[in-house]
Amino acid sequence: MPDFETILTETSGRVGIITLNRPKALNALNAQVMRDVTAAAADFDADPVIGAIVLTGSEKAFAAGADIKEMSTKSYAEVLGEALFAGWDALTRVRTPIVAAVSGYALGGGCELAMLADIIVASETAVFGQPEINLGVIPGIGGSQRLTRAIGKAKAMDLILTGRRLKVDEAERLGLVSRVVPAGDHLTAAVEVAETIASKSLPSVILAKEAVNTAFETTLAEGVRAERALFFATFATDDQTEGMAAFVEKREPDFRHR
Ligand code: CAA
Repeated sequence: MPDFETILTETSGRVGIITLNRPKALNALNAQVMRDVTAAAADFDADPVIGAIVLTGSEKAFAAGADIKEMSTKSYAEVLGEALFAGWDALTRVRTPIVAAVSGYALGGGCELAMLADIIVASETAVFGQPEINLGVIPGIGGSQRLTRAIGKAKAMDLILTGRRLKVDEAERLGLVSRVVPAGDHLTAAVEVAETIASKSLPSVILAKEAVNTAFETTLAEGVRAERALFFATFATDDQTEGMAAFVEKREPDFRHR
């Protein structure tokens, strides 16, 4: 893994950890952060040893949004021409599950980045929101779409039109957050979730993530058809044979592909 300017990377067993590292700007997401995070995630995704990725920030801020200072003077022609933020879409092509470990502010692009992850583990201190309306803009890294799918129209409209912040208990109640843990425990808890995922059969994990994501892309009937095809595909893996044999023989499975 190369050195990055705005993030730190490390591995813990089969888990790859990406830490946003612009503390003075509360991890504001500038173009370099976008390049670094997407490159590191792609590198971990390509590494056969890595079974899950954790994405985190600092105690104070997961990320306080897109970098307002960087974009404040851009013109319409510039944001259109450079397709501002489009690079973040690369995270949707990462097949390895991504667990966001969120503490403190996850606002604007920070909230959107957390929603680009597959699972959000949040500290009691986490605060979510899409405050772009206060800046005279709207969400631009998928927030209006992913937040609406995550928590429904009524709440998404409330948050996006008023710019109000969501404390973690409400975020969990609404289904935005997967798990809430005591302050300071978010990274440890997220790594534990990632280790659990990494201990499963890799083909099953990849297919399961694809199946759940299909629910966001298509109709129920098409989604169920897609799930069935993916389910049938698991029977082409020796991990299906091993997983079911282990159950019948009352032992732990020894998956070949992890
Ligand atoms: N962009 C650039 N710099 C930011 C930033 C951002 N999104 N958020 C914080 N910073 C910088 C501040 O400018 C400040 O820098 P200086 O010391 O050089 O002045 C430093 O980080 C510390 O911030 P504060 O002094 O403001 O810290 P605070 O504890 O008083 O407040 C905060 C924290 C409430 C998160 C506040 O910083 C804030 O409101 N940030 C902006 C949140 C926001 O509007 N996010 C949405 C951005 S737009 C977007 O994301 C578009 C999109 O959809 C992609």
